[in-house]
Amino acid sequence: MEQSDLRAISVVVNGVSHRCRVEPRLLLSDFLRHHLGLTGTRVGCEHGVCGACTIHLDGTAVRSCLLFAVQVDGHELRTVEGLAASDGTLHPLQEAFRDTHGLQCGFCTAGFLMSLLPFVEAHEDPSEAEIRDAMGGNLCRCTGYQKIVAAVQKATRRGEESP
Ligand code: FES
Ligand code: FES
Repeated sequence: MEQSDLRAISVVVNGVSHRCRVEPRLLLSDFLRHHLGLTGTRVGCEHGVCGACTIHLDGTAVRSCLLFAVQVDGHELRTVEGLAASDGTLHPLQEAFRDTHGLQCGFCTAGFLMSLLPFVEAHEDPSEAEIRDAMGGNLCRCTGYQKIVAAVQKATRRGEESP
């Protein structure tokens, strides 16, 4: 591709500003993984079905395989690498996944975390049906989902174990 066909974009990812030149057809998921090295965002189906590529765009969970990198010019993104504190302390939702064995191979986990975080922040002691509804857009081949439900229950339990 000719250099002149590249588009300049400017994005903030996990609090860090990036200015890059990208092909107009470059998927956001590939931009994150291959241009920025943020490989925590997984790519499974690449057509919006599995949820593995979920990130936050201006605070809203979106599927990065369904967006082009040029579409996020001027916006703020958060990926799974932005969940833990700078000293490595896990986010409470990540801790809950660890403590309840909410992951096995881990391929789907970043997508679940990024999809469920807004739900966890907005709900206190949700019902199992509400949790299953919130995670309905993410696929996991390993866990049978029950341990992920348990992780969300732990993360949304207010009081001494609150996130
Ligand atoms: S890789 Fe994006 S939804 Fe499956
Ligand atoms: S833990 Fe393996 S796909 Fe979910």
